[in-house]
Amino acid sequence: MKKILFIDACARPESRTRRLARHVLEQLQGENVKVQLYEEEQLLPLNNDRLQRRNGYVAAGDFAEEIFRYARQFAQADEIVIAAPYWDLLFPAVLRTYLELVTVTGVTFYYTPEGVPKGMCRAGRIIYVTTAGGPIGANNFGYDYVKALADTFYGIPETVCVKAENLDIVGADPEMILKDTMDNIHI
Ligand SMILES: Cc1cc2nc3c(=O)[nH]c(=O)nc-3n(C[C@H](O)[C@H](O)[C@H](O)COP(=O)(O)O)c2cc1C
Repeated sequence: MKKILFIDACARPESRTRRLARHVLEQLQGENVKVQLYEEEQLLPLNNDRLQRRNGYVAAGDFAEEIFRYARQFAQADEIVIAAPYWDLLFPAVLRTYLELVTVTGVTFYYTPEGVPKGMCRAGRIIYVTTAGGPIGANNFGYDYVKALADTFYGIPETVCVKAENLDIVGADPEMILKDTMDNIHI
């Protein structure tokens, strides 16, 4: 059965981004594995100590360590759904920390002798789900960044964005906007 990795970077229990992502997941066939980033105690940025340790394991080709758990899981997923609210034109910091731990030479990508990154991930697609208080317009930096990582490093050929905008505008009907977005998802 297809393994669908659901990466939840939503902070609020009543998150609208998570609701939208669940709607997306209902339309996909496969076994869902969820990672709720805010509940992951091991999800820590690379400081000097963790970086040195990681470099040592990478140099030795030893990827069994806990620090590579997210990267291994990411590399083995058949499809990936990321739920991330639009924060400060991007996404919550916890998602950047997760991606920092996922982007590992020897697990999710490798370098050719010429220094060109080549992907090692199975997934055919990332679906990036976001909601925003105002308009996103051309500043879809979170989605654009994830797509660039998928293209450049992970070798995941398709990244699509599902988004609901203007939810916090005075006079807006956020439930209507969400429903409209859900009704128009074709994936
Ligand atoms: C820390 C923070 C930063 C935000 N930054 C933006 C922003 O830059 N642009 C915007 O349109 N909305 C911004 N918003 C509003 C959220 O994008 C909006 O409320 C979104 O729907 C929240 O998603 P959630 O319901 O999944 O928590 C921000 C909200 C928070 C809490």
